[in-house]
Amino acid sequence: MKGGYDHFMQKEIHEQPESLLQTMRGRVQFQRPAVGNPYLTQRIKLGGLVEHGATIRRCRRIVLVACGTSYHACLAARQTLEEMCEVPVSLELASDFLDRRCPIFRDDTCVFLSQSGETADTLRALEYAKAHGALCVGVTNTVGSAISRMTHCGVHLNAGYEIGVASTKAYTSQIIVITMMALQLAEDSIAKRERRDTIIDELGQLPGKVRRVLMLDSAMRDLAEHLRSVNSLLFFGRGYNYATVLEAALKVKEVALIHSEGMLAGEMKHGPLALVDKHMPIVVIATRDGMYKKMESVIQQLLARDAQLYIVCNENDEGMKQYEDRGCKLIQVPETVDCLQPVINIVPLQLLSYHLTVLRGLNVDQPRNLAKSVTVS
Ligand code: UD1
Ligand code: F6R
Repeated sequence: MKGGYDHFMQKEIHEQPESLLQTMRGRVQFQRPAVGNPYLTQRIKLGGLVEHGATIRRCRRIVLVACGTSYHACLAARQTLEEMCEVPVSLELASDFLDRRCPIFRDDTCVFLSQSGETADTLRALEYAKAHGALCVGVTNTVGSAISRMTHCGVHLNAGYEIGVASTKAYTSQIIVITMMALQLAEDSIAKRERRDTIIDELGQLPGKVRRVLMLDSAMRDLAEHLRSVNSLLFFGRGYNYATVLEAALKVKEVALIHSEGMLAGEMKHGPLALVDKHMPIVVIATRDGMYKKMESVIQQLLARDAQLYIVCNENDEGMKQYEDRGCKLIQVPETVDCLQPVINIVPLQLLSYHLTVLRGLNVDQPRNLAKSVTVS
């Protein structure tokens, strides 16, 4: 069942080139059509959204609702949805959405993300939004699950069973499903065609690039060896990679049982900086996107406080090499378009949390106190 791997989490991390391909199979036209082709604009087809596409395009806002890792996937893809659809997109943790009795209207589109499709809070939030007349869209990995059945329409991830309690391959598939959703909803926009084509071209390259980043496995094992006894591990990122740092910290705390926090780098000076000294290991995400310069400044400020830095950067980034001389360790990953970079960046950090857990002699697939599907609130 584990296909030669020691644990399901390890298998599921390594399956990601294939699960991403399955998520896109039959839904993405990877070849750019010849100029003059009448279907030039339709390179993405999510069958479940075809009927309701017009309603979603007309809605006054999109509300993404989820828990845990699924919420982080919403956060990673929100900017793409905002950019493509040009409607406000809000994010809701399902429990808080219910606690606040968040105002929902008939012209809202609510999207419920859940790997299992059975998470109690997400399900209750769906019942609530449906009762308030919103269009309810599901994104789930489980055909026939409660969320799949109760939503008006939706998209199955098709990522294959995820057995390890810590979600890995579902996360990367969820990000690309919301991205595909955004691309499909914007298919009529001529102004966005070039950007859309670039993202779709990069979707085609993504499985190969994830396969390449998985080659960091033994480097991540060595890093885990180095970090196995730390009391705390911080992750700093911003922009598309705010989600990456929250997700990495969740993985480290839930399986390796090490205290870990993901910090929005833009908030660093508003409190978190006080924690930084020479004993504090920090992973910084500084891949090349619109946040690069700001992340470089974050690195310099952290180095000025003698932090131990591990920098996730792109391969062949000469600008980052100087930090190696200053004692930082670089984790070099393949480059893709900014909005898909979180899919690549999370992979070495999933590997890091996996190896930390194994080296600490803990149960990887069944961390203490946790269940795969949280069916009670
Ligand atoms: C569907 C078939 C797939 C087939 C393809 C061929 C299923 C499950 N999928 O995939 O086997 O190869 O057509 O064109 O039969 N839905 C919800 N809520 C959710 C998720 C999905 O209501 O949370 C609905 C969708 O709106 C859709 C149906 O379930 O009506 C199937 O969704 P999905 O599997 O994503 O559709 P296709 O990719 O078209
Ligand atoms: C963390 C993890 C959880 C789930 C959360 C929601 O690795 O797996 O945080 O993401 O319980 O579960 P689903 O996506 O099934 O609704």
